[in-house]
Amino acid sequence: MIDEIAQHEELEKVDKMEEDSKEVVHNQAVEVEKKVKEKENSALDDEAAFEKELPKKRHLNVVFIGHVDAGKSTTGGQILFLSGQVDDRTIQKYEKEAKDKSRESWYMAYIMDTNEEERVKGKTVEVGRAHFETEMTRFTILDAPGHKSYVPNMISGASQADVGVLVISARKGEFETGYERGGQTREHVQLAKTLGVSKLLVVVNKMDDPTVNWSKERYDEIESKMTPFLKLSGYNVKKDVQFLPISGLIGTNMKTRVDKSVCSWWGGPCLFEALDATEIPQRDPKGPFRMPIIDKFKDMGTVVMGKVESGSVREGDSMVVMPNKAHVKVLAVFCDEDKVKRAGPGENVRVRLSGVEEEDILSGFVLSSISRPIPSVSEFEAQLQILELLDNAIFTAGYKAVLHIHAVVEECEIVELLQQIDPKTKKPMKRKVLFVKNGAFVVCRVQVNNLICIEKFSDFPQLGRFTLRTEGKTVAVGKVTGLNLSSA
Ligand code: GTP
Ligand code: MG
Repeated sequence: MIDEIAQHEELEKVDKMEEDSKEVVHNQAVEVEKKVKEKENSALDDEAAFEKELPKKRHLNVVFIGHVDAGKSTTGGQILFLSGQVDDRTIQKYEKEAKDKSRESWYMAYIMDTNEEERVKGKTVEVGRAHFETEMTRFTILDAPGHKSYVPNMISGASQADVGVLVISARKGEFETGYERGGQTREHVQLAKTLGVSKLLVVVNKMDDPTVNWSKERYDEIESKMTPFLKLSGYNVKKDVQFLPISGLIGTNMKTRVDKSVCSWWGGPCLFEALDATEIPQRDPKGPFRMPIIDKFKDMGTVVMGKVESGSVREGDSMVVMPNKAHVKVLAVFCDEDKVKRAGPGENVRVRLSGVEEEDILSGFVLSSISRPIPSVSEFEAQLQILELLDNAIFTAGYKAVLHIHAVVEECEIVELLQQIDPKTKKPMKRKVLFVKNGAFVVCRVQVNNLICIEKFSDFPQLGRFTLRTEGKTVAVGKVTGLNLSSA
């Protein structure tokens, strides 16, 4: 009996153990399921966080261009002030500093012109960079220098932008000098067009100046002189260009429309509205990744800066730096000041990399996807438009110039002229071409000493359009029409 009881107890024990173990298994299964769910949820959370991190507003890069002293930095500074990013005390400090330098009216420009040389001379040297937002859009402002010595910096600024604000001074005599041959109003427009600035807001500035006093005649004169030139430079003035009057210094017609008591004849938008309404072509976030490197520095790895021209970059991605084929890992991505999980085309980003030393990267190198890396070549075919040769020289094989293409700056030589294009019919002319002059369109072979990463214009316009400069002057603009891949 005792045995029976013991047996029974034993059986119960076994049952219980089985039960227990079932429970354990069950519990384990629940646990695993829970974990899977948690993981899924956390993945969902990740996606949600990522979605959250993806800015809701669209992003636009705007470059401020135009002749020296037109008021680019002043207008840029005023934008930051009006959008609440600079407080009154800072403005007062700048007013005092400007006064001490006998540059009373330059205090607004000091918001953008941050280094001492720029403040003393009243001239932008480096492209200034700042951010502001309107209701619909996050903007990165790139404040280019107007002085002719700093055109290469302007080129680097414009090559990062989709929209240009062309600042023109309406002050007596100033519009005229900027617009003259050799003035930077012309050079900047031509460069902007070739560098991919697809839309232009032409702001007629200094409307408050005593020589202008919001005169409709002066505004109309500037618009009517600029329009044919903009057309000639390749802008569709109906679709891609908009004129508006402002005073950057006082901040009139910028955040809110100009009061009728100041300017009775203007019924159009103010600058913020016009910027908010600009449309730019959509880029492909799923395309092969391309980011020309404009700058680099050391900070817990190698950090490279640039604008994403195609594709997207995520933390953890494996990529390649071209043309030196360095395989790298993306440790972190920063957009403006914030760390983000991913950034897409059009964004200005900083990317922290491992696997490459800072010294091994040069500006003009391209961070690129591994599966479809950007081609690198030392020879390519291009269609050029000759703008203005120095001393009306002739353009022939052997011509040497400095090539600017995205962030690349390289000495180049024209090795062969292939065909001249009839500017009217856009068709190749039959006869053999040995030299061409100003205004000509010509297809030629171009060589550089070092490997450069470029694309055909028809594939990636931003990475296939360039300018040629000699002795500080832009002599030609062009498009890459073919890559000599065996030259790599
Ligand atoms: P760079 O950087 O050298 O190419 O010049 P910028 O185009 O940035 O010009 P900046 O903003 O430095 O202004 C040049 C001068 O024009 C300064 O004295 C400004 O005060 C003056 N200025 C700019 N905007 C206005 C304006 O709307 N009205 C008046 N009256 N003066 C202005
Ligand atoms: Mg400036």
